[in-house]
Amino acid sequence: MFSVKNETFLKEKEELLIIGLYDRPIKFEGELAELDEALNGQLTELVKEGDISAKKKETALIPTLGRVPVKRLLFIGLGKDKKADFQEMKEAIGAAAKTIKKVRLSSIAVALDSFVCERIEADDAAHAFSEAFGLASYEFKGYKQQSNDPEQAVEQVTVYTKAEAGVVSAALHVGYVFSQGTNSARTLVNTPGNLLTASDMADYARKLAETYNFEVEILEKEDIEKLGMGAFLAVNQGSVEPPKMITLKYHGQEEWKDVLGLVGKGITFDTGGYSIKPKTGIVGMKTDMGGAAAVFGAMEIIGELKPQQNVVAVIPATDNMISGEAFKPDDVITSMSGKTIEVLNTDAEGRLVLADAMTYAKHHKADYLVDVATLTGGVVVALGDDKTGALTNNEEFFEEVLEASNEAGEFIWRLPLTEKDKQRIRSSKIADLNNSPGREGHAIMGGGFVGEFAEDTPWVHLDIAGTADSSKASALGPAGATGVMARTLALLALRRPDNQEK
Ligand code: BES
Ligand code: ZN
Ligand code: ZN
Repeated sequence: MFSVKNETFLKEKEELLIIGLYDRPIKFEGELAELDEALNGQLTELVKEGDISAKKKETALIPTLGRVPVKRLLFIGLGKDKKADFQEMKEAIGAAAKTIKKVRLSSIAVALDSFVCERIEADDAAHAFSEAFGLASYEFKGYKQQSNDPEQAVEQVTVYTKAEAGVVSAALHVGYVFSQGTNSARTLVNTPGNLLTASDMADYARKLAETYNFEVEILEKEDIEKLGMGAFLAVNQGSVEPPKMITLKYHGQEEWKDVLGLVGKGITFDTGGYSIKPKTGIVGMKTDMGGAAAVFGAMEIIGELKPQQNVVAVIPATDNMISGEAFKPDDVITSMSGKTIEVLNTDAEGRLVLADAMTYAKHHKADYLVDVATLTGGVVVALGDDKTGALTNNEEFFEEVLEASNEAGEFIWRLPLTEKDKQRIRSSKIADLNNSPGREGHAIMGGGFVGEFAEDTPWVHLDIAGTADSSKASALGPAGATGVMARTLALLALRRPDNQEK
């Protein structure tokens, strides 16, 4: 997809050349000055008239009318160079990708050095470009017989730069891999529940394992019964679709030690069970496997980039349905850990499947645990739909996750988890835990329940109920699934070996 050229773009017959513009204020230097000259100073003129602007995320498509070999110039505003920021640069590039989509071209070019400034080096600019371009070009094909909008995907991007080609190529690859892992997560989340059952998720995991040489284990219902995963089984009890406990292992080191465990909620559809959701709240519950999708997306990135970090991914996959056999409020169930749970609300099913998945990740020797889940409506009430809520039992590990999320540009915000909160989770009269201790602090109760199964293992919980999908398009993607946390989890795995050496 990407090729890097250490040449000038001035003589090349490109269909479209993307140029970044900083507000320094705008000055054309070097090759850009030559380009302006070949165009009789028209670029300078267009800047003066305000048709070309360096304002953040503004784009201007300028045809060159045969005066230079390149046919069109696409200027992207990057704002003040002194305030240049990696995440904002990605958003500006995303805006450009959307303009390119409308022009329908199969090949484009980038003047990479125009994106470089004191704060952004060529490799960062390359990473920003490929990641943002890959993310913003995403589209979920859907199931219409005929598309009324024939799309032309960009197949070839030529990157012109003076920086070392090897370094730029490597950074382009990393950014592109990040976008593709995220896009895979998006597609899983966008897929409806009838077309993505627990068995389909297991098949998906098998394919990933084959591609990247992961170890894969799919526990069938009988295995799950033998292991005593009563919490996971309870949620599946009303379903005709068999449950699957999916495990993927990536060996980043010879020895199976310092293992990072990634646990993703894989509810393929959440009706709420007997604590049934209202007809408005039930629509959209195909996204209740957003945590699993993030973990799969991260594993794809990990498989591509091969960090020296052992990773075990565990995904409990099932739907939450109603039937004569379904579990119901007041039931008491026994989890794999031995802890008993009083079910007060069958719609608080995520924490139940995660309970056994956490125990199972520990069984596979996870030394650190991150669970990701569309767990509570409460997190949306607390933080809005653009922030992922977090909980932890370990400050240091939380800092690592926070750093990864900052680098990924995926905002997380930590909520407290106090001893009193834990007491509420442990407040059942007839069991060790109760799965719904009341409305107050919903997000904390949900995540805190999962934390009971981390026990002493360093753990971070990420509640993506608000962020897994979006009702509006953003600079980096259309409305619908966001693929949130795939990049954060992957970065956590990629940065861990270095962090541990510190
Ligand atoms: N899957 C839902 C959470 C959810 C809500 C995800 C909205 C995405 C958008 C979860 O299983 C759930 O129903 N949680 C309940 C918990 C309650 C019954 C204790 C909630 O948050 O209302
Ligand atoms: Zn639910
Ligand atoms: Zn749910």
